[in-house]
This record gives sequence, structure tokens and C-alpha cells, in this order.
Amino acid sequence: MIRKAIYEDLPELMEVFRKAREIMRESGNMNQWNDGYPSEDIVMKDIDEGVCYVLCEPDMTDGGRSDITCKERIIATMAFIPGPDPTYAKIYDGQWIDESPYYVIHRIAAAEPGKNAASTLLDWAFSQTDNIRIDTHRDNVIMHHILGRHGFAHCGMIYLANGDPREAYQMSLKVNKYKTLYNHAKCYFDGEDDMIANMANLSAMIHRVFKFWWTGFYRVCPKDSGTSDESHELVLGPFQGPTACTRIAYGRGVCGSAWKKGETIVVPDVEEFPGHIACSSESRSEIVVPVWRDGHIVAVLDIDSEKLGTFTETDRYWLEKIVSHI
Ligand code: SME
Repeated sequence: MIRKAIYEDLPELMEVFRKAREIMRESGNMNQWNDGYPSEDIVMKDIDEGVCYVLCEPDMTDGGRSDITCKERIIATMAFIPGPDPTYAKIYDGQWIDESPYYVIHRIAAAEPGKNAASTLLDWAFSQTDNIRIDTHRDNVIMHHILGRHGFAHCGMIYLANGDPREAYQMSLKVNKYKTLYNHAKCYFDGEDDMIANMANLSAMIHRVFKFWWTGFYRVCPKDSGTSDESHELVLGPFQGPTACTRIAYGRGVCGSAWKKGETIVVPDVEEFPGHIACSSESRSEIVVPVWRDGHIVAVLDIDSEKLGTFTETDRYWLEKIVSHI
């Protein structure tokens, strides 16, 4: 079981850190946490702020009567903290995967080897967020190994507040999904130049991978015989999700504005966007990406989320890259 730590856990937590230091020394990591880090004060502060988590298992040391006493033992812990982390503001000899909001894990420690306790904590962390940054000591081979196994990318070096260097890692589930999506989409686009077919497959792929509320295209179509932008309008194209409005005028709503500006628009909160066209009251945030062909916008990709702030620069980067191949 994973739960937030409480003040009564403090002595047991300090014992977990002591054992973790022992394991570090046995594995040849002689210098990390050798000044007694983390101190009781630091751990108390984590508990206070509700960011200290513990992994427990039933305590069998009383002869297996834990079913009656319901006693538990802490076997691992971590501080799981919403970013940004000041020590990660600068990275050296590399770069972070992206600048999307992230969580950071500090003070991850397991009391006993061979129980996959750190992995269990990492799996749980990814059930709470899709983007995590973490650092570890150069000599912490166990941690490097665990991070590699969980798909973390080594991004560079960071320096702690006391000046000590650490190896910096990040794992973004969103970026991993976009990378796979990009490769799949390119396979489909390479053998097909019918735009409607490609839009249909791309909206299906994006929608299936990310489970957004609405994913689809509006195509730039003639409205009358004129040649100006105003003589054209957006008409609903292939999409996934609930039914949507069929026609949007040039410059109207998020879609029409992205078409008029000729650039992607990220809307963290649709209620804050003047003129937003609400096809569904469930939609809370949105991204609209123009689709270019031969120097003209021929369509826009529109994605709606039922959560606030779903889309970031990462979505902009990857969606622009993907639709450029349509
Ligand atoms: N919200 C869009 C309209 C399209 S629906 O979201 C599918 C807009 O403001 O342009």
C-alpha cells in the first residue's frame, strides 16, 4: 500500500534512510547522502507539505498475526513534489526532454533490496502524472539501472543547492506517445496523398492514444465564388468524438482565429478565450493547429479536452510536426 506519511512515521522513515545508505555503501556508492541526508527536519517538512509518501507491507515480525493487529511496516519512501524545482532550472551537458509541467521525485529510498520497492513507487508516481524529473548521484548504479528500466532518459547534469553535481533524468509519457504516433502516422501518410483519408486516420490515431474529448479536422472550403479568405469557411472534416458544429467563419472561434493568424493556438481554459465556439459544454481546454500545403492553410486540426490546461508547447511541437506530413 502507498500512502502519505504522517508524523508518527518519522522514526521508521529515518530507519529506512539509514538502511538505504547502507545499501548504497555496499554497492560501491560511497559518497551519496554521507552527511546524514536527509535530516529529520527535511523529512518533517516533506510530511508537513503532504509530499512524503511511504510504501508499506504487512508486518509479519510478530509471527504473522498482522491480520489481527493490522500492523504495517514501511519498506520504501519518496518525496513526490509538483515542479518546478529550482535546482532543475539550469541543466548542463544536455537538455530536458520538454518544458511541460512536471513532478519531481527526491529522497527515494528502499530499506531492503530485492523487493522492487523503488519501482513500485515509480509506477505509482506515473499513475499520478505523465511527466517526472529526477536526479541521482553518479555512483548510484542501482538507481541508474531502475531509471533506465522505467524509460527515463538521461538528460544532462544539474547542481544541487550545495553545489554537488547530479545526473539528471526525465520521463515524459506524453512525449513517448507522440514519438510512436509520429512514426505510425508517417507510415500511413507515406503511401497515401488523399488528405481526407490521412485526416481520418490521424484523428483516429490521436484520439485512441490520448483519449481526448474531441479530435478532428476542419477544412478550408469555398463559401462563394470569391478568392479572398473571407470567401472561404471552415467545414467539418474527419473527426472522433461527439457531433460538432459544421461551419466556422474566417477569424471566428479558436479554429477560425488559428486559420487567420496562421499559427497554432493553445487555449488552457476555453472560457478565457473571447469568441470560443462551444460545440460541447464538456470542453475545457483546446489546441488548434493549422495544416499547410503549398504555402496555404488547407485545414486545421482541432483537439478538445474535458480537463483544463491539457495542452502545452510539447503538444504544439509534436502536432505541428505530425500534420506537416499529412
Ligand atoms: N471550439 C472550436 C469549435 C470546434 S469544436 O471545439 C469541435 C472553436 O472555438 O473554434
